Amino acid sequence: MSGWITGIAVVTAEVDGERVGIVCNSLTSVSLDPILVSWCVDKKIASYPLWRNAMNWAVHFVDAGQEELVHRFTTHGVDRFAGLELIEPSAEHPALALACAQTYFTARTTAQHEAGDHVIIVGEVLAFSDGISQPLTFFRGKFLPGPTV
Ligand SMILES: Cc1cc2nc3c(=O)[nH]c(=O)nc-3n(C[C@H](O)[C@H](O)[C@H](O)COP(=O)(O)O)c2cc1C
Repeated sequence: MSGWITGIAVVTAEVDGERVGIVCNSLTSVSLDPILVSWCVDKKIASYPLWRNAMNWAVHFVDAGQEELVHRFTTHGVDRFAGLELIEPSAEHPALALACAQTYFTARTTAQHEAGDHVIIVGEVLAFSDGISQPLTFFRGKFLPGPTV
């Protein structure tokens, strides 16, 4: 699949009082009515048990100027949220989110499916804010600025 170009997302949540966030490119739209998306969590990552328990989570589309976010949300042994402006869960967006994203949405887990060494997490989109104009893309293992609109 390295020849299939994707965007890059950062998925965040607060689970059992712990902040959790990872980089994700397995994000896919699933259904329009209701609006469902899915992403796959690797059973081997440290935060896997938290994602199994996560009710609500936020998905942020990473833009072309935000490669530092990728490094931050794949680095171990640091507080990945340190120094970032956060949006605390609200009635409209009931998940911990990052203020630096121009496009993000909040979703609630509606199903989890075992799939080999990953689990497919399906969520219903609850609210979104959309403003990204140039995404960061991932192709052949490289991060590349995407097109502008
Ligand atoms: C481009 C890219 C895409 C990724 N996509 C996913 C993904 O879809 N699912 C996943 O579980 N991990 C994915 N990862 C790996 C996690 O972001 C990474 O392992 C993270 O450090 C896990 O954090 P943790 O071990 O603290 O839980 C991706 C990493 C990169 C660089």
